[in-house]
Amino acid sequence: MNAVTNNPLAATLLDRIERSAVRSGVIGLGYVGLPLAVELARGGCAVTGLDIDAKKVDAVMRGTSYIPDVPDGDLAALVAGGRLRATTDFSALRDLVTVNICVPTPLRKTRDPDVSYMVSAVEQVAAHLHPGMLVILESTTYPGTTEELVQPMLEATGLEAGRDFFLAFSPERVDPGNPRFHTANVPKVVGGTTETCTALATALYRRSIKHVVTVGSPKAAEMVKLLENTFRAVNIGLVNEIAMMCDTLGIDVWEVVDAAATKPFGFMPFYPGPGLGGHCIPIDPFYLSWKAKQNGFDARFIELAGQVNGHMPHYVVAKISDALNTRRKAINGARILALGVAYKRDVDDVRESPALDVMKTLQEKGADVAYSDPHVPVLAAHLWGGPHPLESLPLDAEVLEEFDCAVILTDHRAFDYELIVAHSDRIVDTRNALGARSTPAIVRLGAPLRAHGRLQEDDREANRSRRSEAQKAPRRLRRRAPRPEIPINSRRWVSVSVSDGRHRQDHSR
Ligand SMILES: NC(=O)c1ccc[n+]([C@@H]2O[C@H](COP(=O)([O-])OP(=O)(O)OC[C@H]3O[C@@H](n4cnc5c(N)ncnc54)[C@H](O)[C@@H]3O)[C@@H](O)[C@H]2O)c1
Repeated sequence: MNAVTNNPLAATLLDRIERSAVRSGVIGLGYVGLPLAVELARGGCAVTGLDIDAKKVDAVMRGTSYIPDVPDGDLAALVAGGRLRATTDFSALRDLVTVNICVPTPLRKTRDPDVSYMVSAVEQVAAHLHPGMLVILESTTYPGTTEELVQPMLEATGLEAGRDFFLAFSPERVDPGNPRFHTANVPKVVGGTTETCTALATALYRRSIKHVVTVGSPKAAEMVKLLENTFRAVNIGLVNEIAMMCDTLGIDVWEVVDAAATKPFGFMPFYPGPGLGGHCIPIDPFYLSWKAKQNGFDARFIELAGQVNGHMPHYVVAKISDALNTRRKAINGARILALGVAYKRDVDDVRESPALDVMKTLQEKGADVAYSDPHVPVLAAHLWGGPHPLESLPLDAEVLEEFDCAVILTDHRAFDYELIVAHSDRIVDTRNALGARSTPAIVRLGAPLRAHGRLQEDDREANRSRRSEAQKAPRRLRRRAPRPEIPINSRRWVSVSVSDGRHRQDHSR
């Protein structure tokens, strides 16, 4: 703490933080920013949320939450108690002593980082930066962003980081929809541009978050987040490849992963699925590979995992084609119901959801696509790449029976899986949501057909009835067109006409 006490601005800020006399700001009130604003307010700060989206700001001020992990009651109590407010007016930054930036960090079409939201938020902070202010970047970004991009923008005001204002990076690790881990009980990693910056950011978080872990620089903190998400992307890529391998080897990947997970050390289970989704795992590793490339380093694991995971929606479409094939149907003209469009279980977030890629590909191949998702009532046309917006269908027997195939793309707990099994003609299960349920109608990703024999029996039955229908047809309809003549000395097989007009082939020499 010596570093702090030697700087009067830092000492004053630390004292205010410890006395809960600090006015804090959170820029970007989304999945990350709103829960953080709530925790800071609970920790004793007077919090102002700043967002460019007036609808979100109005909702916060009404005490109405749009983030499932933040209950209305909690939000409303903090707003009513004067601990939390929201605004679109960035001049509010003048009166704030700390500010956390939680704006989006997407990729451009070229898979390069799109830092425009971050730059715009930092410009606002720079416009109102004042001595003694603590600025913390939380948006996931490439290593070096805080010191190479944010710090120069803020220091262009004439104030110096670590002396006049304080700057740190602390990655957000929220897992939306996780009932066990939330902002307050996930350890927070902090790396400041100086020791003083780290100490002040740590003091702020300690008011609301149980464990704070410090690292030596913002760059290290940025890299921590990218390691975590790259680790997930690569392991999901690996298990997706293993799932496709298991398909060809006739092995059930779900059984294999569950059995491997019984090893008490050295193994962590990852599960296959229709591809990567959400704002983090499909995107963040490319922030890292982009930065590595700038330094002449080729991030091969990231690229390979991206290829495997990016292929999964197409693999799912192939599975759907297989399922329809058992009914002698093609994707073209089939009615297909996507069950779940959110990128993961029990959330309403469709960003980067692989379900959308599956639906788009099916639609392009001529399928009639609909969806049901209790968390996503409507799907705009631009989101799924279809010709029109879609509304979530209620899930009942009548609706299920209208479709040639239902494909489980998100294993929401709210789905009635018994109903789905009982009333779907064919089901493709990409999440093992149906687990041990075994019927000839179910095709699971990464697993052999459970009742293959019964499926074949089904098929044989269908073939028998097709043949008997054909027998009833008039003889002239069954006669094939005569084969073109082939000179006798140029062929190994000879066509021999038989009495009923059919041809059979005979080995002649
Ligand atoms: N969603 C997650 O699960 C998650 C988890 C960990 C980290 N992150 C990271 O956190 C960051 C935020 O993600 P999110 O999911 O909360 O995004 P989000 O889209 O839910 O929220 C971002 C908010 O920022 C606002 N915004 C955009 N530009 C702004 C600006 N210039 N000024 C003020 N507000 C602005 C938007 O209106 C929106 O409300 C990203 O870098 C993301 O990678 C997200």
